[in-house]
Amino acid sequence: MRNSKISGMGFYVPENIVTNDDLSKFMDTNDEWIRERTGIEERRWVEPGKDTTSGMGVKAAKMALKNANISAQDIDFIIFATLSPDYYFPGPGVQVQEALGMDTVGALDVRNQCSGFVYALSVADQFVKTGMYDNILVIGSELHSGGLDKTTRGRGVTVIFGDGAGAAVVTAAKGEGGILSTHLHSQGEHAKELALIGPATNRWVNKIIEEADETDLSYFPYMNGNFVFKHAVTRFPEVIQEALDKNGFSTADIDLLVPHQANLRISQFIQRSMKLRDDQVYSNIMRYGNTTAASIPIALSEAIKEGKVKDGDLICLAAFGSGFTWASALIRWES
Ligand code: UT7
Repeated sequence: MRNSKISGMGFYVPENIVTNDDLSKFMDTNDEWIRERTGIEERRWVEPGKDTTSGMGVKAAKMALKNANISAQDIDFIIFATLSPDYYFPGPGVQVQEALGMDTVGALDVRNQCSGFVYALSVADQFVKTGMYDNILVIGSELHSGGLDKTTRGRGVTVIFGDGAGAAVVTAAKGEGGILSTHLHSQGEHAKELALIGPATNRWVNKIIEEADETDLSYFPYMNGNFVFKHAVTRFPEVIQEALDKNGFSTADIDLLVPHQANLRISQFIQRSMKLRDDQVYSNIMRYGNTTAASIPIALSEAIKEGKVKDGDLICLAAFGSGFTWASALIRWES
């Protein structure tokens, strides 16, 4: 069976920069609190009407296709990960098919939040390995800003999230390199610790309109921050170690860990507990906040641009988030 590899990466973030000071103009928060607790200095929020989840995904995809040196016509499958689709249904995969003028290729939508990109990459890996598809477009895109509670009530969640998109082209590797393994996990008992409950079949729009009062916040994202944090700092190292063990490597062999950018303190915790050097862990949360399914492909794109990913390097991707779900991918980089 052949291995798959990432042959091109791309990303797009909206132009509009929102600093911590900007947030403090409409909610009781401050730059010091946000920097200290999360490491975030600014994030991008779309100007309403200017960008969409699918549209940002398409922009990231165009860059990934260019970097992979192939055209949209060469893609035989689309996988789109997001928790913030343009529509309740259909998912945004089909919008990419149309926007890029592609043949009637299949389009799969992945609903695994912060782990969405690694889950999607894993699916792409299996399809390429079996020979079913040769060139797969994997996209993670999120438009959080439109649905956040922008009052002091929502500050524990709202200050963290940013908008943006990242994309990868997954193709067949030449030899033994490329994606070595992927590891996926879930624990649904904690589903409501980080969730947006309605509107959905559990909470249809007409019910929300009929029943909602000022105590009903089910249509805003909710996060039990401390609880999520504690699970994150356990699951991240666990799933990274799982990937290393599976392939006979140790943490010293990692050239670059690109964790989902959830919180700088979480990444620092992983670094300390796994005894990784500064240069082994990539962080760009300072500039973009937490962009959920988009965060790993944006970070990996920037790491490549900065020359931090070279052929032969051992790259580890790892994510944890709502579900709970968590996942990792270990890659022997081959451009
Ligand atoms: O990406 C998916 C996975 N997500 C994560 O991994 C996120 C995990 N959780 C976290 O990153 C952290 O829990 C947060 C950054 C969300 C919160 O940090 P924390 O250190 O856990 O703060 P806290 O929620 O315990 O709140 C501490 C205090 C509270 O005030 P009191 O009760 O001590 O008076 C909050 O009301 O900070 C207050 N607070 C804020 N103050 C200023 C909460 N949010 C803010 C804010 N600005 N934005």
